[in-house]
Amino acid sequence: MPHTTPAEKDLIGREGGSPSNLREQILEANQAVHALEGALYLARHPEQTHGYQRRILTATLDRACARLKPGAEVLDLGCGTGYLFLEFLQRGFSVTGVDLSREMTEALENNIPSVHRARARWVNADAETFAREETKLYDAVAMSALLHHLHDPGAVVEAALRRVAPGGIFLIFFEPLKQKIPSRFRYVLHRLLTRLHETLYRAEMRWRGIPLFEDRYALADYQRQFGGIDPLVLLPVLERGGFQVLELNKYCSRRYAWAAWIANRILKSENTFNLIAVKADTSRP
Ligand SMILES: C[S@@+](CC[C@H](N)C(=O)[O-])C[C@H]1O[C@@H](n2cnc3c(N)ncnc32)[C@H](O)[C@@H]1O
Repeated sequence: MPHTTPAEKDLIGREGGSPSNLREQILEANQAVHALEGALYLARHPEQTHGYQRRILTATLDRACARLKPGAEVLDLGCGTGYLFLEFLQRGFSVTGVDLSREMTEALENNIPSVHRARARWVNADAETFAREETKLYDAVAMSALLHHLHDPGAVVEAALRRVAPGGIFLIFFEPLKQKIPSRFRYVLHRLLTRLHETLYRAEMRWRGIPLFEDRYALADYQRQFGGIDPLVLLPVLERGGFQVLELNKYCSRRYAWAAWIANRILKSENTFNLIAVKADTSRP
């Protein structure tokens, strides 16, 4: 990572630009699409909030947070409208959120209960730039559904790892996984299930009057053209940063809980991963 694909070469050729120009264009595309997403982001993405996914979220955060001391400081990169941010806040931690999109953090601000406000801070910035310029260390650095929006996820992970205090944790949650297709038959069933729940999802969004912006996501979801993120590529980055991976869980995200249940329990397909790693504490004997 980053790869130079035919699509990228094409874009560079057309724009007469360079990869760094492409990086800027991906940032702009993300700003544009998330300005449209705004407060309705999670309503538009029920795959993050239905019961099946919530159980995964709660269990993962329970395990990660068990390693944090009370009042620990958490950095949430690409915090959006507060999916992880609010969970950490409700668990008593102090949380700093970083997000490129002002519209997303405006929604976040409205979602923060006043009793927790004193422990909440948010910044509008590019995650990589923030991680490189910030000098403070955090007890936990987390990100949910951020990496597939980036030009160079490896570089962002590397910068993020430097912000973790010794003994602290690093969490990647709900990231599209570069999938393997172990069985053609199961893959066909997986596609059929996708078609069914996507049809129902579109009908539901139409009925609820919630517009979808899928055609606007092409460049913003930059890593999807490579099939998502391969966590194996991140393992050497974690190792170099002095981290030990505690868990890497792969599973299948679907728009609805029933579809997630079928995908995970029956089809056993995988399109998403969560990862928890801990930084070695060299100050301890
Ligand atoms: C798919 S949303 C996920 C939001 C939230 N973490 C969640 O799980 O609900 C991706 C978020 O990353 C933000 N984002 C995209 N590129 C970014 C970048 N380079 N730096 C910081 N935030 C970025 C977007 O504005 C958006 O809020």
